[in-house]
Formats: sequence, C-alpha cells, structure tokens
Amino acid sequence: MLTNPPIQPLMRALHGHSADRPPFWLMRQAGRYLPEYRALRAQAGSFLDLCFNPARAAEITLQPLRRFDMDAAILFSDILVIPHALGQKLWFEEGEGPRLARLEDTRGFSALTFDAFNEKLSPIYDTVARVRAQLSPEKTLIGFAGAPWTVACYMLNGKGDAHAGGAFAAVQDFANTRPQDFQRLIDILTEATARYLIAQIKAGADAVQLFDSWAGALQGDALEKWVIAPTRAIVTAVRAACPQTPVIGFARGIGQSVGLYAAQTGIQAAGIDQSISIAKASALCAENLCLQGNLAPDILLKGGLDLTRGVEDILRHAHGRPFVFNLGHGIIKETPIAHVEQLSRIVKGLSA
Ligand code: CP3
Repeated sequence: MLTNPPIQPLMRALHGHSADRPPFWLMRQAGRYLPEYRALRAQAGSFLDLCFNPARAAEITLQPLRRFDMDAAILFSDILVIPHALGQKLWFEEGEGPRLARLEDTRGFSALTFDAFNEKLSPIYDTVARVRAQLSPEKTLIGFAGAPWTVACYMLNGKGDAHAGGAFAAVQDFANTRPQDFQRLIDILTEATARYLIAQIKAGADAVQLFDSWAGALQGDALEKWVIAPTRAIVTAVRAACPQTPVIGFARGIGQSVGLYAAQTGIQAAGIDQSISIAKASALCAENLCLQGNLAPDILLKGGLDLTRGVEDILRHAHGRPFVFNLGHGIIKETPIAHVEQLSRIVKGLSA
C-alpha cells in the first residue's frame, strides 16, 4: 500500500483511485499525423534510426504533449526492437511496415541470444532517462513492450498479416501442432520482455504497458497458454523487481475474456479496445482495477458531433471507477489535429 497518493493523475488512476475527470493519453500519440514528427522522421533516414537516436526519440515522445497536454508521454520506440536485440534482423519497408529475416524454425530459435541484449537496447534506456528529465513532475512516463504472443507472430511470419483481421493463421498453426517448440520461443520472449521492462523502469519509466495486439486471434486453452501465462510471468517479474510500478495489459480483441485475463495475470490496469463497452468491461473486472480505453480510432478520425458523443458516452460509463481515457487502438495517421484538440478539450471538461 502507498502511504501518500501519487501526485500524477495518471498514476493515481493506475493505483486504483477514481477522479472527477479521468487522465488521458492516446495510443500512437506520437507519429505520422503530426507534421513535427514527419519533419524529424525525414531527417532521420529510417524509422529504426529514429528509435535508436535518444535525442530525437525523446523529442518525438514529447511532441504530442506540447499540443494536447496529455497526462502521459509514451516512450517512442517499437515492439519489434526485442527480436532485433535478440539477433533477428529487422527493417521497415517504406510505406509497408516491419520485415524480419526468416527464423529458420527451431534452429533459428537457438540462434537468438541475450549476449548483447541490454547493450543493443541501451539507446532506448537513454531515451527514457532523457524524457523523464524533461517531463514535468505531474506527467507520467509510460514505457512499453510487445507481449510474447504478438511479438512471436511477427518473428515467425516475418511481417504483419495482410489477411482480413490479420489473425496470423500460420503462426496459430505452428503453436497448435508444435506446442513444445513454440513454448521455447515464448519462454525466450517472456524473459526478454521482463528484462526490457525492468530496465526501462530503472531508467525512469513510471508505468509500463504490454501490447498484445493479436491476442484476439486466440481462445480457450491457447489464450491461457500463449497470452495469459506469459503475461502473468512478466507481471510477476516486474512486480518483484519494481513493486510500485503498475503494469497495463492491453490484450486487444479478447472481448469478454478481459475479466479472466485481468484476474489471472495480476495486471494493475486493463486496456479495453472498442469492441466492448466500458460498462460491460466494468462488470467483468474487479472494482479497483483501472480500465483504459476505449474510443474507436475511426470516431476520432471522423470528428464532429460523433466524436463529442463518443467521448461523453465513455466518460459517463467510466464515472466513479479508476479509469484512463484512451483510444481502443492506435491513432489513424490521417486524423486531423483539430479532432485531437477537440478530444482533449472534452476530456478535460473545457468544452466541445
Ligand atoms: O504509442 C506511441 O506513440 C509510441 C510508439 C509506438 C510505435 N509502435 C511507433 C511506430 C508504439 C507503442 C508501437 C507499438 C507497436 N508496433 C505495435 C503494438 C500496437 C499496435 O499498433 O497494435 C505493433 C503491432 C507494432 C509493429 C509495427 N510498427 C507495425 C505493424 C508498424 C507498421 C504499421 C504502421 O503503422 O506504419 C510499425 C511502424 C511504426 N511504429 C510507426 C510508428 C510511429 C510508423 C513508422 C513510420 O514513421 O513510418
């Protein structure tokens, strides 16, 4: 138990306190919808060069807060720096997305190594320290990592999944037919993710979020084995090393399983996508568990009265419980800046 409530509004929510106006931040709040991001990105060369340049990455992390005064900054980086640090070649194809060198099956798993892990990731820890030093004390710095299942999907597929819904069917097939081999990869990623998050916290992150973007592809035993169990192991390791640091778990697309996911992983906050209402998620989760979400990114893209109504609806449903306002997934890159300004004003109770 904390003796004094934390001074940061976002940390108060993550520690289970409700507030009159919830704190807010937005997934992918730093990025291509901002002209100041595009300007720095053009100077950097590649997206990965930007992630590994502490001065520029720190600047990009802070850019959205200057415009919209969010309650938190989220470290600017990517979930795929973990496979990169384990030795799997990673690059970003301009206008397309991530590409990873083929993992030659179990032989490829054996080639993954922790030898240079923290050394390769040290520019990112440097970014965290720089951001924390520049951020005002009432603002929270969120560190993050991809959860093992989602990162394994990219590692085995070599890229995103273009099929409708992106369910990574080939990876699901691998996990089903060769569970022991797949478990080896998940174990490596669980260890790597815990180390990475703990190092971010030691460098200055106040809270951390696990992105399990493709959790919704799994159900039942597979959800338990590849999403819930590794997340529980990571939360346990982070809590043992840093007992005061909340972990936000965002298992996108799991719907009604969020109650089970939250209870069994031991997370302090649950990210809620737009597929279920906050009222429904509240009914499924413990009263003191912080919820975070869940405005549909396309409503923010659309703006206008739909946006005002969408935000107010969520605020009404979340009233009285610990809550962090956010989107249900990342900002769409065509989103007008004026719409994000409108959202910020409504959440702060200023006007529509
Ligand atoms: O939220 C933030 O503002 C922090 C930064 C952040 C990025 N990626 C920057 C980024 C975070 C938290 C991520 C997480 C991430 N990365 C996820 C999980 C969240 C989700 O969206 O589901 C995933 C699956 C990735 C992997 C990834 N990175 C993909 C599939 C892509 C290409 C698709 C796309 O949107 O371009 C990226 C690239 C990426 N990561 C960009 C940014 C700003 C765009 C790169 C560019 O400038 O060209």
